[in-house]
Amino acid sequence: MIMVDRIVAVHAHEILDSRGNPTLSTTVILKSGARGVAAVPSGASTGSHEAHELRDGDQKRYRGLGVLKAVKNTNSSLALVTIGLDPFKQRELDDQLRIADGTPHKSKLGANAILGISLAAAVAAAKSAGIPLYRHLRQIFAPTLRGYKLPTPLLNVFNGGRHADTNLDIQEFLVIPHNFSTFAKRLQVGTEIYHTLGEILHADGLDTDVGNEGGYAPRIGASEKVLEYLVKAIKKSGYSPKSVGIGLDVAASEFYDERQEKYLMTTDRRRYTAPQMIELFISWQKKYPLISIEDGLSEDAWSDWQSLTRRLGGDLMLVGDDLFVTQADRLQRGIELGVGNAVLIKPNQVGTLSETMDTILMAQANRYKVIISHRSGETTDTFIADLAVAINAQYIKSGAPARSERLCKYNRLLEIEEEL
Ligand code: PGA
Ligand code: ZN
Repeated sequence: MIMVDRIVAVHAHEILDSRGNPTLSTTVILKSGARGVAAVPSGASTGSHEAHELRDGDQKRYRGLGVLKAVKNTNSSLALVTIGLDPFKQRELDDQLRIADGTPHKSKLGANAILGISLAAAVAAAKSAGIPLYRHLRQIFAPTLRGYKLPTPLLNVFNGGRHADTNLDIQEFLVIPHNFSTFAKRLQVGTEIYHTLGEILHADGLDTDVGNEGGYAPRIGASEKVLEYLVKAIKKSGYSPKSVGIGLDVAASEFYDERQEKYLMTTDRRRYTAPQMIELFISWQKKYPLISIEDGLSEDAWSDWQSLTRRLGGDLMLVGDDLFVTQADRLQRGIELGVGNAVLIKPNQVGTLSETMDTILMAQANRYKVIISHRSGETTDTFIADLAVAINAQYIKSGAPARSERLCKYNRLLEIEEEL
């Protein structure tokens, strides 16, 4: 059935994200009366090639982090180009948004302003069609895909890097319950391990307060210690490291010193060259059930990434986040160079839904695994859960099983699984 509707109104206002920083909530209203709302997330360890997040810079409000300029762009120039368009023609809509900005990184009107409309239009269109968002996204972008598969959660149970106030360099330690047949069971297993880990840390006299993504964030003497704790928690919860793997988001660009060409691991009081980082990962892979490493090396270290992929690409998932920044041209380069074998997908790194889909479809056509991801600054928006199901993503990363802005995505997946 061919659906048609028209955008009659677009409106954004400022809200606060999970860190108490301003972001946009954008509403798109259609002629049929259907309305879609989307809230835009925000990163802390942002890749330098990401689309531009427009902030006011006015130190008198929210320490310069206000988004009133982006709100104004949404409600004026962007509203002007979108009103009258058919939300079922998402690509046309996204093209218009991109053209209205006209810069390569959406730095004129703001990727945050543009993304809000792009996502809210899709939500409104799904409502207009009377179908769940994941079905609508499937119909628009991947109509030939068969059946629905629920993703495996990557649960960030131990927070470091820019997401915690400790000296742990590695940003995320992830529990990956991969060997279970339903999403509900994977979430249950991961959550039990999270609670067991809390108990173990507490018994060892460590702090169990949480970081930006709901994972524990105690001060810890050595990076490897976290891996030991994770294995302990997996086993003590009654699961086998064969069924539950471990992942890392190293976010290595954050502690790479370009001048010295070294990775400064302050936790371990070490400075590693890229080949030494690779050796470190290999040694961990031998000792622990490590199955995934994200951003193991810096975002522009293409040739070091090639060596990493040659050495570990057969055994591990090697994920590009700051490396690919959800952008098809950077992923294309990675594919050509044999770099990585998985891509992290964050819609706000590129700024429109259609461009996000281009990157996903390119990854799938080249057998790269797809991980749909939240940002460290989140809202209660659950768009990414529907997105993961729409395109049969293998994984979703939405933090620890703690804090509602993380759990609402997992809970939405429970709801979708029940519905299917
Ligand atoms: P960010 O972190 O949202 O702060 O960029 C998430 C990630 O690096 O995966
Ligand atoms: Zn990352």
